[in-house]
Amino acid sequence: MLGVGSMGGAILHGLVRHGAERIAVTNRTAEKAAAIELDGVESIALADDPDGNARAIAGAKLVVLGVKPVGIVDLAREIAPHLAADAVVVSIAAGTTTASIEAALPASVAVVRAMPNTPSTVGLGVTGVAGGSRASDEDIALVARMFEAVGEVIVLDESQIDALSTISGSGPAYVFLLIEELTKAAERMGFTAEQAATMVQGTFRGATELLAADETGASPAELRRRVTSPKGTTEQAVGVLQAADLGGTFDRATTAALARAQELAAG
Ligand SMILES: NC(=O)c1ccc[n+]([C@@H]2O[C@H](COP(=O)([O-])OP(=O)(O)OC[C@H]3O[C@@H](n4cnc5c(N)ncnc54)[C@H](OP(=O)(O)O)[C@@H]3O)[C@@H](O)[C@H]2O)c1
Repeated sequence: MLGVGSMGGAILHGLVRHGAERIAVTNRTAEKAAAIELDGVESIALADDPDGNARAIAGAKLVVLGVKPVGIVDLAREIAPHLAADAVVVSIAAGTTTASIEAALPASVAVVRAMPNTPSTVGLGVTGVAGGSRASDEDIALVARMFEAVGEVIVLDESQIDALSTISGSGPAYVFLLIEELTKAAERMGFTAEQAATMVQGTFRGATELLAADETGASPAELRRRVTSPKGTTEQAVGVLQAADLGGTFDRATTAALARAQELAAG
């Protein structure tokens, strides 16, 4: 894994938790490299070993590129001569197409694009996985298996990956924003910051756990109806939220994110 920052680190910890070993990882700085102390993981700093990327990928079947989008194609070019002929290269970079990475690599090397999200850190991620033009079903399955170590995986066509990113990639930010706003509303009602945090975070967690645990397969709408008695208090609040056109607001938000992804892809 070349480039182990916040996202790469989440994936790496999940893999190690699942017993993966014989992993080599690189970062540029010695501090970053030294901070990764995990069984079965060799952590290399390029500052100490300028050929570290080549060394890390020698003979590797699976190579994950975890650097920022701006550095992905340059990194692909740098490692191209050192990759095993049957390697599968996985990019987690937002807005970088498999075609642009394929163009920098030998024709025998498959490229798979993945869009994880930050709850991967706690093993509850959602990752979209899309194969490039040279990726076989086995290559895609191998990459999907890797991301299953940190949550759920959706295999899809690359044409849908930016759309997935507007939902699950950016989605944790939407949830945190809702939590922030409801917390502020609680504080405006006179609760302390601590009380507000307990109420709001406990409610978000409790509601999503309730949804996940429901054995009857009840939909979110059904679970919402169960807390909304006719002519009751919740009905009043939900009416106000619906009048604010949450659906239309989410459409505009995800459309704006999609437009930005397309802008980034166009350079
Ligand atoms: N964060 C998210 O929510 C999220 C979600 C989905 C996808 N992604 C994608 O994940 C990728 C990484 O994002 P991030 O937030 O994890 O960034 P990050 O924390 O900055 O991590 C990038 C890491 O790459 C290292 N690096 C830079 N150039 C390198 C090179 N040439 N060789 C080896 N390592 C190198 C950096 O090491 P030094 O610090 O030592 O320079 C750093 O640790 C991005 O492409 C992003 O689009 C992120």
